[in-house]
Amino acid sequence: MELQSYIEKIRKDFPLLSQKVNGKELIYFDNGASAQKPHVVLDAYQKYYSTQNANIHRGVHYLSQEATSLYEVARTKIKNYIGAQHSEEIIFTRGTTEGINIVANGFGQSILKAGEEVLISAMEHHSNIVPWQMACEKSGATLKVIPITDQGALNWEEGKKLLNNKTKILAITQVSNTLGTINPIVQIISEAHAKGIPVLVDGAQAVPHGSEDVTKLDADFYAFSAHKLFGPTGVGVLYGKEKWLNQLPPYQGGGDMIKTVTFEKTTYNELPHKFEAGTPHIAGGIVMGPLIDYLETLDWDQLKIHEQNLLEIGTQALETIPGLRIIGTAPKKEGVISFIHESAHHYDIGTLLDQMGVAIRTGHHCTEPLMHRMGVSGTARASFAFYNTPQEVEQFAANLKRAINMLV
Ligand code: ALA
Repeated sequence: MELQSYIEKIRKDFPLLSQKVNGKELIYFDNGASAQKPHVVLDAYQKYYSTQNANIHRGVHYLSQEATSLYEVARTKIKNYIGAQHSEEIIFTRGTTEGINIVANGFGQSILKAGEEVLISAMEHHSNIVPWQMACEKSGATLKVIPITDQGALNWEEGKKLLNNKTKILAITQVSNTLGTINPIVQIISEAHAKGIPVLVDGAQAVPHGSEDVTKLDADFYAFSAHKLFGPTGVGVLYGKEKWLNQLPPYQGGGDMIKTVTFEKTTYNELPHKFEAGTPHIAGGIVMGPLIDYLETLDWDQLKIHEQNLLEIGTQALETIPGLRIIGTAPKKEGVISFIHESAHHYDIGTLLDQMGVAIRTGHHCTEPLMHRMGVSGTARASFAFYNTPQEVEQFAANLKRAINMLV
């Protein structure tokens, strides 16, 4: 199908996109913060709460067994979608943040020792910084940071010099939420592994741009959120190699994660339940099944070209605006454009664009250390998804010029 008609067809799957905001046709460019949901997700929610609702892994009755089966089917679909080997390696979490906390907490509690090191990069989201700081505080280990260039690319030549026999884990994002930078994750993982160092990949901003294969990547841990992947909030996935997940202690105690409990001693459940304490977001997990089915129907080869086209059109248009500077110009980027203007505050730009129906994000994007590195206090950020169009990007650029003219 011709690209324009294909995107128009896809847009019909996302009901929210056709509404007006502030009396204007919505242009939704805040996909990096949370993406919109297709009908299949909304319908599956309705169906679950209308006809399937019951607790999982607990009941002998029909509904409980049906809900359990749907939840486990969703887990298997996720496993297949990300190329994992075993369903037990797929842990349902609340989101990327919880996934990273599970791993960092486990390392802090039972692997890291004083004098050892954790390596992250200068472009990490707070979720891939703070849990490691907490793990280092607990264990006496030290946090090391891979530098980035002025363009916002990873300086891996310097970074790999930080891999040494004290490094116990490398935790790094695949795609920067703030800059859009795509990191050379295959090379990074292979060079870390050559020194026996496991790698956790923050895939939150990578998976919305096409499926990943954790086995090909050879990632030891891979975390992402459903809500950035066109699914619900409050659901995420932590993939971990079985040998690592078996080695880590549980994150939380409670129901579902136990095998036996006495007042003297508790034994823990097998994977994946060991890391899934308490009643989870059952509906949210179940709707991942139809979501994955939907994502698998998409022509990702075409959509990847389309998203790069959006990035190019947007970058070229913004580069012509006097006084505007794009923050993050690495050679390999996903569809994210962060920018500042010399005379207009990013917050004011975001507020005026909102009045024109354009949703973007402003602020530090949960990456304060990165903002310091780039020498800015915050940026305005447009982040694209496959359902956005070149016309929207052009309209956004025109509205942005109008907004700046009003402010300077
Ligand atoms: N991490 C999300 C963002 O980049 C919330 O906006």
